[in-house]
Amino acid sequence: MATIAVIGTGYVGLTTGACFAHLGHDVICADIDAEKIAQLQDGQIPIVEEGLDRIVAEALSAGKIRFVLGATNASQHCEFHYLCVPTPQSDDGSADLSYLESAAAEIGPVLPPESVVVNKSTVPVGSTEVVGKHLGRADARVVSNPEFLREGTAVQDFLHPDRVVIGASDQEAAIRVAALYSRVRAPIMVTDPVSAETIKYASNAFLATKLSFVNAIATLCEHVGADVNDVTLGMGYDTRIGKEFLKPGPGWGGSCFPKDVAALARIADQFGYDFTLLREVLNVNEAQFQRTAQKVLDALGDDVTNKKVAAWGLSFKAGTDDLRESPAIEVLQRISGAGAQITAYDPAVPENIRQLPNVQVVSDPIVAAKDADVLVVLTEWPEFRFVDFDQLAEQMRGRVVVDGRNHLDMAILKRRNFRVIGIGR
Ligand code: UDX
Repeated sequence: MATIAVIGTGYVGLTTGACFAHLGHDVICADIDAEKIAQLQDGQIPIVEEGLDRIVAEALSAGKIRFVLGATNASQHCEFHYLCVPTPQSDDGSADLSYLESAAAEIGPVLPPESVVVNKSTVPVGSTEVVGKHLGRADARVVSNPEFLREGTAVQDFLHPDRVVIGASDQEAAIRVAALYSRVRAPIMVTDPVSAETIKYASNAFLATKLSFVNAIATLCEHVGADVNDVTLGMGYDTRIGKEFLKPGPGWGGSCFPKDVAALARIADQFGYDFTLLREVLNVNEAQFQRTAQKVLDALGDDVTNKKVAAWGLSFKAGTDDLRESPAIEVLQRISGAGAQITAYDPAVPENIRQLPNVQVVSDPIVAAKDADVLVVLTEWPEFRFVDFDQLAEQMRGRVVVDGRNHLDMAILKRRNFRVIGIGR
């Protein structure tokens, strides 16, 4: 079993560290946030992620994982070093590498001889080389091993991946990284670093393209009078298309897709290729936020300022409390920008959260709907299908539901005289 330092304990780092410990390796996770480290040492998990608390608790009690302050306190003791620091989007759309560069510069001097440093964060094409330069250690090897983890199912995705991609210019380093996954049953693909980095971006950009395509088809369905649910079902039977990632919605978001699509378009630019297809994928998504907001505004009628909107769902998708780049927030900002008042409920978002200045967040879906003229559904939480719809009808002032995820049972709502406006039907 190997010794692994994980630098950065966000979604990716914490999942990576906990899963490697679960696979039997000795893991030390490092972060610069002292409060977070203290919490983690105590077994408290700062994010909502199915199964993560259990495997962290098991690894802590088996002595397989430790949490330390500062990267050097982890790296000086380990053979592998997973860089899991954020790579946020800069103003020009490119990825900001400053965290990655400073982490590499920090651990470089303390690495044990022949260490392998692994880029797990999504990094621009060519970053493996950048990390190598900042490490300043000729004996260390830098490898790309991108993550394909979905929030909410990250632990499952790590332990049962569709594939493991390793990008290395040094074959021995690739074999050493592959061995870390010996207990994982999945195809392991070894390629050069630039191809591995491109695989990550191309995968996310392809999925985002699929979603913008589906959302555009949904718009077309509204124009021609087709039902997008049937259209995508009929498409999905074709194995070349596949059933996954065909659900239309209020637009797509999250911490990865928007920044990765923008970054890939930017990378293409820098290398002299104008990736117009990707720009249009982003444009269709912006338009989808606006179209969804407009459905609500149209339903509110002329004087929006005296109207009340109830919103169900704030996170960027069900199963997570993550609000980063959430389509729900995008849509609600456009509605509140037009002057309507919004009361929202999300099962994973605490009451009175401060991040959303124009949205009052409450802790119950029916309370959110009190006196509302329109209800808008923005995240596909399963519990929304099971609220008491008689009570909903009693509490609301209006009778319109804009179902931004085609999630609720239309028949149940129609029986209670609701007008249901969906996406693409
Ligand atoms: C994504 C990728 O799936 C993952 O492989 C990568 O490593 C990180 O980015 P995640 O950000 O957790 O994962 O979200 P994902 O489940 O892919 O959903 C992204 C967005 O697309 C969400 O806003 C979601 O609601 C939306 N979506 C997804 C749809 O609108 N319809 C679908 O059918 C699927």
